[in-house]
Amino acid sequence: MKYLLNRVSFTIGWVSVLAAFSSTAFAERQDLQSSVDRQTLMGPWKKGAMATVHPLASQMGVRALQAGGNAVDAAIASALTLGVVDSHNSGIGGGCFILIRRECGEIIALDGREMAPAAAHRDMYIIDGELDPMASREGALAPGVPGALMAYHGAVSRYGRLDFSDLLLWAAEVAENGFPVDAGFAARTAAEKETILKYPATAAILLRPDGEPYVEGDILKQPDLAKTYRSIADQGLNWFYRGPFAEATESWMKENGGIMIRQDFANYHIRIRNPVRSNYKGYEIIGFPPPSSGGIHVAQILDLMEIHSSSYKATGSTSWYHYLAESMKLAFADRAHWLGDPDYYPVPSKLKDESYLKSRAALIDPNQASTDVAHGIPPESDSDWIGDPSHFPGASKHTTHLSAADRDGVWVALTTTLNTWYGSMVAVPGTGVLLNNQMDDFSAQPGKPNYFGLIGAEANAVQPGKRPLSSMSPTIVLKDGEPMLSVGAAGGPTIITQVAQALLWSLDENLPPVQALKAPRIHHQWKPERLKVESSVPEAVKEDLKNLGHDLQVVSRLGATQLIRWNPESQVFEATADPRGNGKAMGW
Ligand code: DON
Repeated sequence: MKYLLNRVSFTIGWVSVLAAFSSTAFAERQDLQSSVDRQTLMGPWKKGAMATVHPLASQMGVRALQAGGNAVDAAIASALTLGVVDSHNSGIGGGCFILIRRECGEIIALDGREMAPAAAHRDMYIIDGELDPMASREGALAPGVPGALMAYHGAVSRYGRLDFSDLLLWAAEVAENGFPVDAGFAARTAAEKETILKYPATAAILLRPDGEPYVEGDILKQPDLAKTYRSIADQGLNWFYRGPFAEATESWMKENGGIMIRQDFANYHIRIRNPVRSNYKGYEIIGFPPPSSGGIHVAQILDLMEIHSSSYKATGSTSWYHYLAESMKLAFADRAHWLGDPDYYPVPSKLKDESYLKSRAALIDPNQASTDVAHGIPPESDSDWIGDPSHFPGASKHTTHLSAADRDGVWVALTTTLNTWYGSMVAVPGTGVLLNNQMDDFSAQPGKPNYFGLIGAEANAVQPGKRPLSSMSPTIVLKDGEPMLSVGAAGGPTIITQVAQALLWSLDENLPPVQALKAPRIHHQWKPERLKVESSVPEAVKEDLKNLGHDLQVVSRLGATQLIRWNPESQVFEATADPRGNGKAMGW
């Protein structure tokens, strides 16, 4: 019944965005009041809003809101649809983190991150003493046990209002009827064609029957995925975690040198964790805790910037970018050493304490880029660990983000991923489901970089059942206890630095979402010692940064951020998908 009622057409009143800049420095350099892109249109939306990387996914979120659902239902309806229309980035073969602010004010951090199979072990990617970097990225040894489906189900059944089955059936319909392939999808599959062809079940999903990539405008139908969604809607999660899906995965793995078995699916569990809470200039920033590194390091970067707020000039000035880059380095040096799954390797909780961060902030030289940054030693005590300190062995010691919000005060920030494009490239035959390659987020060998160039330590070594460290940073901001912003991003380690920058532009400059996200981004992750800067960073700033000793790498774009904020003056939601992509914010 609900299902039929929801088949309404969406009447969305679009108005153009009037760019308003409070930062003179920024306004001088950027003329962003250009023509309004389709993805950056904003409300006025009074009842709820969605921001995702695909218009069909945002539309599905609004459908859930209009069907009487809350922002949790909307977020999951969108996420399941993204698994169809954006399947190279996310899907039920992957994992996710969901941050939920409930109507009653409670904050839930729902961890649906993949777990390493029981037969996984520390040196599983090392052959004759040498790391085989591709083994954790592609093929049978790359996937962790998927958690996204259980997390989506857990979110809706505990905190939503609609039937999870209905949301699956809506997305199944999109998979069955197909969707028009866009230029990005066509280019990606064309670029990956040879790899895709190595995996016949994957080729059957992503390539035309003649083995050629779809081109822009083709309709891509996924009947097997539709059948999978319908089977789960009909038979529940057991179909996936204790039934045909787990069995089909085990038999493919056995034939292809994998280690994942049925029992790994039966052992999978989601976790509810304590969110990371910190303050930035009177705002409460709520981030995702380990096994994400996002919450801690977004908080570190913001706190370092606040400590130094009288040391640099305007937002967007050379000195601002310099302090930001140095803060990023300090944060990522800590990440590499301290962070991992707290169920296996306790993470010091004082990494974001003011006294510790003051000592770290003192390391920043206003006139020179540092080259010798090391991790810090936060204050310790027996109670200062996230996780169980008795586990601690030495006491001395390509993703998508969506945001949703509704008028009842339910806010969601959800980041979900297969890791890199198409994950492991492995599709479980007959199911339409692509499996992630999240095992590459472990530190496969100390000091050796993963796909994203990140290096790690023992805290993030492979262990059976362990969750790989993540940079995903779904974040919700409160002001005086009330929710006012939801943000997150895709792009590996740049997620952390994108979210920090989106918050700095939003909170310090009070920019509307589209301008906050258009602002030119930088990224530093400690190693390699290189500062990535978007080409849109003004030339004079780039020159000045070079003169300060930064080793610059100019890139066309850094990542994809989605953001929703509540405008208390006009009493409307304002939302945007990243102007760098083809996403779309919608609401009603
Ligand atoms: O969890 C992480 O940090 C990574 N697996 C995220 C990968 C990602 O963002 C790829 N996107 N472009």
